[in-house]
Amino acid sequence: MTVRNVSQLVRATAVSEGAGVTVHRTIGTPARRNLDPFLMLDHFGSDDPDQYIAGFPSHPHRGFITLTYMLDGHMEHQDSMGNQGDLRAGGAQWMKAASGVIHSEMPKQTEGLMRGFQLWINLPSSEKMSEPAYQELTPGAIPAVEAAGARVRVLSGEYGGVTGPIDDPNTHVVYLDVELEPDAVFDYELPVSHTAFVNVFEGVARIGDAELPRHHLAVLGEGDRVLVAAGESGARFILVGGRPIGEPVVQYGPFVMTSSEEIEQAMRDYRDNRLVRARAAFHAS
Ligand code: CO
Repeated sequence: MTVRNVSQLVRATAVSEGAGVTVHRTIGTPARRNLDPFLMLDHFGSDDPDQYIAGFPSHPHRGFITLTYMLDGHMEHQDSMGNQGDLRAGGAQWMKAASGVIHSEMPKQTEGLMRGFQLWINLPSSEKMSEPAYQELTPGAIPAVEAAGARVRVLSGEYGGVTGPIDDPNTHVVYLDVELEPDAVFDYELPVSHTAFVNVFEGVARIGDAELPRHHLAVLGEGDRVLVAAGESGARFILVGGRPIGEPVVQYGPFVMTSSEEIEQAMRDYRDNRLVRARAAFHAS
């Protein structure tokens, strides 16, 4: 077996979204435009109860999947498919925007806390104009596995014989939230075919000699095994992997297609109110 080392450490760019919400973006920055099949990774959060959180009012997406994982707080949302809900801490929202979705995402604090991740997963060109789909996972729908020194929440992929509820047939995404006790080591087999990264959001962890500070994305090199060691105060991170799609990526904001013609079409469709094909009753908040 070959242990994956860290091939690139990407420091997050702090992006100010709305009023007062700081988003730490790693994938989707000049240092790391994308990481096939991943297009963007945002870590959003606030621990200031007085901070005003504007959220993300009505906006479009076309050509990919958004996967949102709430760690703290909650997120009220509604979309053009007619879905409406309140994503709770520990829950996840998987949305295949595909041919077009307009939605609003309004994260809210609970006892002054709000934290989560949003990952954009690309779709192959054959799927980009397919029907949108949506799945909301309650905290209880995401299994947690206790192992030696570790507690692992399995959103997608497999760990310890347990399979997560999210399945992307195109990229076979693996998405694990791993909490390690002090000095514990996480040992995981990941297919050689998968692009993979680790993002530490609590404590300190290492892969080989490389320390993984917070607000950094550790892109993993080739191999079939991942070894992450926690520091003396423990660590918590997400480990995400997926099979690359291997097609051109042409992005303009919330539209990700394979050619500039398709991007221009998306902009025309949005302007002419044709981005969403089957629009359910939707009232932007
Ligand atoms: Co969105």
